[in-house]
Amino acid sequence: MHIDPLEKKWAAISFLVVGFIVSTLLVSSLVHNIDTPGQVETIDSARLHLTEEFAEDNLGLQVDENGKITVRLVAGRYGFVPKHLTIPAETEITFRWVSSDVIHGVHIPMTNLNTMIVPGYVSQVTTELKRPGEYPVICNEYCGMGHAHMWSNITVIAKKDWLKKQNGDINNG
Ligand code: CUA
Repeated sequence: MHIDPLEKKWAAISFLVVGFIVSTLLVSSLVHNIDTPGQVETIDSARLHLTEEFAEDNLGLQVDENGKITVRLVAGRYGFVPKHLTIPAETEITFRWVSSDVIHGVHIPMTNLNTMIVPGYVSQVTTELKRPGEYPVICNEYCGMGHAHMWSNITVIAKKDWLKKQNGDINNG
């Protein structure tokens, strides 16, 4: 079978372009730890306050008996509850976010934490925030007139300072 050299050349170029795009996707997913949502968990967004997990007293950071850290937040027009959190750096943390009304998003700049928060579902992200500092938590899905004002803060502190603080809280409490 005869293939024109010009056709061969362009076929090779198209394969190279496709190969480049596929390897870019693979690198971003494997090296930068960017994944599609792996878990589907439903929740009644209209009755969050009646669920045990997302009742007001359970929001924020909690450490279970095995030392596993979970941060629970509720997104609602136009803010995140709690408004401010202090969490340790270089520590695996599971973030569980729910919406009390419409679709919101959550993005922490300079980290790989970025997900949609869809009413009716729990958005779960497990990650480590590497560098201590002040981070804004920004809603990145248009959710209404107050969307631009929907944000909160996370303070990431060195792990040893956080442990000290935790022990202090236990001794004082
Ligand atoms: Cu919430 Cu935009």
